Parts: sequence; structure tokens; C-alpha cells
Amino acid sequence: MPTDESTHLVTLFPSLMPEANPKTVNVGIIGGGLMGREVASAFARWCALTDAPVTPQLTAVADLNPDTLKWFERIPSAKLLTADYKELLASSDVDVVYVAVPHNLHEQLYIDTLEAGKDLLAEKPFGLNLAAAEKIVASVDSTGQFCRCSSEFPFFPGAARAFQIAQDTSRFGRILEVRAGFLHSSDLDPDKAANWKRMSNTCGEIGVMGDLGMHVAHLPLRLGWTPSRVYAQLQKGYAERRGVACDTWDNATLQLWVEPSGSEPFRMQWEMKRLAPGETDTWFFEVLGTDGGVRYSTKEPKTLWTFRRDAAGQFWDRTDMGFQTPYPTITGGIFEPGFPDVIQQMWCAFLSEREGLASDKFTCVTPREALMSHRVFDAALRSQESHSAISI
Ligand SMILES: NC(=O)c1ccc[n+]([C@@H]2O[C@H](COP(=O)([O-])OP(=O)(O)OC[C@H]3O[C@@H](n4cnc5c(N)ncnc54)[C@H](O)[C@@H]3O)[C@@H](O)[C@H]2O)c1
Repeated sequence: MPTDESTHLVTLFPSLMPEANPKTVNVGIIGGGLMGREVASAFARWCALTDAPVTPQLTAVADLNPDTLKWFERIPSAKLLTADYKELLASSDVDVVYVAVPHNLHEQLYIDTLEAGKDLLAEKPFGLNLAAAEKIVASVDSTGQFCRCSSEFPFFPGAARAFQIAQDTSRFGRILEVRAGFLHSSDLDPDKAANWKRMSNTCGEIGVMGDLGMHVAHLPLRLGWTPSRVYAQLQKGYAERRGVACDTWDNATLQLWVEPSGSEPFRMQWEMKRLAPGETDTWFFEVLGTDGGVRYSTKEPKTLWTFRRDAAGQFWDRTDMGFQTPYPTITGGIFEPGFPDVIQQMWCAFLSEREGLASDKFTCVTPREALMSHRVFDAALRSQESHSAISI
């Protein structure tokens, strides 16, 4: 019978058991700005996950800005800090690459990453426009690399439960409408400086749809609710910020038709706004049917609403959610999840699926779902121009 000290420790702390020390995957980040740093911090507290099958290790970062690279000096495993992303792609110490750069660079950097034989977690959008998305998908297919696109909000426990509920459409009776959206107010202040997200040449002609749309489309597309037609209402923000011209669409409301085979067609609405008074970062998803419904919004991150109609009347039931994340953590079940938590959950889903270990859990946006979102946004541009509904 083993009696040494290490065995004793393992008995006391099962997380020290060898099977709890999962495979390590080396990750490189191209673009160490807002999101690059968020992802580095998610990796740095990976110990919060209790049975993640894979542990990411940040080994390399590429960014043009020396101050940004300097920030990564605090991560001991990040040995390669370079201004040249091709140096990162050439490194044998990188298996997976996360690319978080301005949208006009996505097509080139995603294809270069895939062709370098690296797997990719791509930021949204999947290229600047539909043509770029088609080329990226062709590269995923020809290289055979594992690739997914970023969308973390469905990993909130309330969103995950809403998705689970929506999978059984029989509980809704006849679906009447679906609403999904992502709203913030970052552009309300006219004195805020312009950045690349406010210009079509760097953010894309699809503007806010490229910026926020993948988050909105993820659950509906995963549920098979591919829209057949779109009527778009697009609005621009301030034409100038501190003397710099801004020309992107800031607000987009898409009225969509869904025509599922074997059931009644229903209306779907996708809202994406950077000029939404009173909203800081509100992602929501709602399904309403004749007999039932479900509603979740990050505005009230703990609250899940479910609707039911029966002989006794119509009821909205409120469930207080805790920390029941798809991938379990050490965090107490009654505590509140937030943005950094769902970024970490999304990464755990990505790395688990990459190993073939996601089993029946919710997974990240696939290249084909990302491509479909682009088909909708492209049709939305044509709808806005022609003031008519466009088939997708
Ligand atoms: N998933 C989310 O919730 C979420 C949130 C915000 C942004 N994003 C997405 O993340 C991506 C980046 O956005 P951000 O807000 O982090 O932008 P950012 O401007 O903060 O960071 C972009 C970084 O890319 C670097 N960069 C530019 N060109 C480069 C090149 N050729 N090689 C290496 N580095 C280069 C810049 O120096 C900068 O540090 C975008 O696709 C954006 O839509 C996602």
C-alpha cells in the first residue's frame, strides 16, 4: 500500500491526481489588444476549471505595438514576443493560434495560420465580407485544420439553459417569434476618439453586423433556424470623431423569416447596436410560442425566464441561476458568472472539441455557421440599399 507523502497529498487533493493534469496545448496569440489580453488572463487562471481535458499554455504573442508586447512579459510561458506574426506561425512551440486583429486583416491572417499547419480560434467576423468568409472556409477545408469562430455569450449558464430549453421546440406550441441581439452604447459619446472599428475599410462595410453579429447568430443558427429572407434597417453613427471620418453602420435591426420544414414559418429579429442608450454590453435571446417561451439577457445575468400557458393561465416563471457553467469550476454554485468566465468556458469548449472530447456539450461557432452569418449580413446590405426584403 503506498504510504509516501505525494500519495497522501493526492488523497487529500484529488485535483493533484495525474489524470487531473491534462494534456497541455501550446497557444499563440496574434493581436494582443483588448481581446488578446483577455484570453491570456483566461489561460492564467485555468486552475479554476475542475475537469478540463486540456490545459492551454500561452507560448507566443505577435503584435505590432511594443507596449502591448511588453504587457505579455508578465506571462512566463510566453517566451516568443514578436512584431512579426509569421515568426509566431513558424514556431514549433505553437499548436493553436488565436487571432484578434482588426477585421481587414482576418482573411490574410486566418489563411496564413491554417496554411502554416496551425489550428485556429478566429475572432469574429469570419473575414471582412462574404467573399473573404468563403475563402477562409475553403482554406479550412483544404488544410483540414481545426477551426472555430469566437462567440462566448452562449456559455453563460442562463444562455446555456435557454439553448437547452429551445432544443425541444414541442414545449413552445407553435413558435411565433425569436429575438436575439447584442446591444452596447460605446458610440453614444460624440467625443470618443475614432478607432478602426468605426471605418468601413478596417471594420468592413457590414459595420456593426461584423462586429456584433456572430454573437447574435450563434444560437439561432445552431438551432437550425437559418433565415430565408431579410429586411434590414441600418443606421450610421456620428460621421466624424475628433476630426476623423467614421462611416460604418452603427445600428442594425434585421427582420428575418424562418421557414422550418414541417412547421409554421416564424419571424426572427436580430438586433446589433453600438448606439443603444442605457446598454453597456447586453446580449439576449428569446423564443416565444403559443404555449411556451424562454428569455435570457446578460442585463440580468442570473435570471432565466420561462413562459408557460395552461388551463390556469399564462405565467412567466423566474429562475435564479448560479454558476452552473457548461465546464465545471471551483467557483461556488451560488456565485455570479461574468465576461471573463464565459471567455474561459468558450476556450475550454474549443480545446475540448479539438481533442474530440466535447461529447454532448455546447460547442463554438463552426466555419459554416460563420459563413452563413455572412450570407445574412451581405443580404442585409442589399436590403438596406434596395429598401426591400432579400432572399438569402
Ligand atoms: N469576442 C468578443 O467578445 C470580442 C470583443 C471585442 C473584440 N472582439 C474582436 O477581437 C478582434 C480584435 O479586437 P480588439 O478589440 O481586441 O482590438 P484592439 O484594437 O484592442 O487590438 C488589436 C490588436 O491587433 C494588433 N495588430 C494590428 N495589426 C497587426 C498585425 N499585422 N500583426 C500583429 N498584431 C496586429 C494591434 O496592435 C492591437 O494590439 C476583432 O476581431 C474584434 O471584433 C471580440
